[in-house]
Amino acid sequence: MTFSSAKQVLDAPSGQEVAVRGWIYRARSSGAIVFAVLRDGSGIVQVTVKKGGLPDAEFEAARSASIESSVEVRGAMHEDKRAPGGKELRAASFRVVGPAQTFPITEHQSEELLLDHRHLWIRSREQNAVMKVKAAALRGAREWLEESGFTEVTPPILTTNACEGGTTLFKLKYFDRDAYLSQSAQMYLEALIFSLGRVYSVTPSFRAEKSRTPRHLTEYWHLEAEAAWADNRKNMEVQEQLVTAMVQNVLSERKEELLLLRKDIEPLRDIRPPFKRMTYSQAVDRFRTQGHEMSWGCDLGAPEERALTAEETVPLFVTNYPRECKAFYMKEDPEDPRTYACADLLAPGGFGEIIGGSERETDLRKLVSRMQAQGIAMGPYEWYLDLRRYGSVPHSGFGLGVERVVKFVCGLEHIRDAVPFPRTVSRVYP
Ligand code: 4AD
Ligand code: MG
Repeated sequence: MTFSSAKQVLDAPSGQEVAVRGWIYRARSSGAIVFAVLRDGSGIVQVTVKKGGLPDAEFEAARSASIESSVEVRGAMHEDKRAPGGKELRAASFRVVGPAQTFPITEHQSEELLLDHRHLWIRSREQNAVMKVKAAALRGAREWLEESGFTEVTPPILTTNACEGGTTLFKLKYFDRDAYLSQSAQMYLEALIFSLGRVYSVTPSFRAEKSRTPRHLTEYWHLEAEAAWADNRKNMEVQEQLVTAMVQNVLSERKEELLLLRKDIEPLRDIRPPFKRMTYSQAVDRFRTQGHEMSWGCDLGAPEERALTAEETVPLFVTNYPRECKAFYMKEDPEDPRTYACADLLAPGGFGEIIGGSERETDLRKLVSRMQAQGIAMGPYEWYLDLRRYGSVPHSGFGLGVERVVKFVCGLEHIRDAVPFPRTVSRVYP
């Protein structure tokens, strides 16, 4: 017997014999008839089991089958306006494969209970939809990057140096020395462009961030790209095309899932290049004219990013941050040396930062003097400094938080719902 998916059988003509397998999502019975809704990875389909329509033992099995039991059903498809998708499967055979104990998740559960039972909650339709959206976003990204001459590479996760500052490093024992979990593949991608020109990677990144906010995970998926011979202007063009490719691919592959998750998908259609651009100094001026206090030199936090993007419908680049806000590897902007040639990309609707990127400093002396001023030990970075000693080139790159993008595209309130098994300050189980 060949099995079809729930989605496939809904497309089958009336009267067609089909076989499906999946899990019981909902069920109710009244006397001689059982209505069960079956779920598999593709969707849901209603199954009706009538006493007399199949052997009695199988009718009994259907009547007593509990929620989340796995089952195999064979029968014929029939039109039924009341059923989801307008069709139902009338069972001619029903078999329980793996019975389920009383499922611990019912309607209206606390967030904590759902997080404790995440290994079971990921079966929910919302979680299923988010994971499909994420896969479509990543597929859109990879397709665009490959077409644009970027080669996917596999940087290490175990490292001996910080990329984004020592305060958010997870330290671990590496035999008889210390090592860290990677915060960013950037420095390795910088090395790899000397071999491949344009590279990208999709890896987990780790941040020992004590911030309990709806946009921070301690482990997240990081899509990073780096290109030789690219200034920050080119860098931003790559980012806006990449984000467009991700969003538009989600719209073309996963519209149904988006509709299940959010009310309004129309604004996503407008996400097309060029995105808006504004300098950090212009952002500060804007805050001041709106009556907020903001001194030049302070980094933009979540409230400032929210204020900047609340009314926007397309993403916004904020460029030229003061040097004191950002990491030592960024290139000083020759037109405004108080700032770096860098940009953060903020998602509209108050969602805030989804990408951080910059042109990289190529001047060995500037790099070394900044590191000294910040008290960074040179030893672990000798290999990185070598990249400026052997045929250095102008280059730029960026890192995109995959869950940040998914949170924005799906309109999620909390980033933990953009990842199946979230890791946060208070959670590493299950
Ligand atoms: O802005 P960040 O720290 O930049 C870097 O790591 C650069 N080295 C990247 C590069 O140039 N290759 O991080 C990049 C992005 C942020 O814009 C955000 O989207 C995401 O990573 N991100 C997080 N996502 C979830 N949880 C966290 N704690 C995150 N920290 C950063
Ligand atoms: Mg950042």
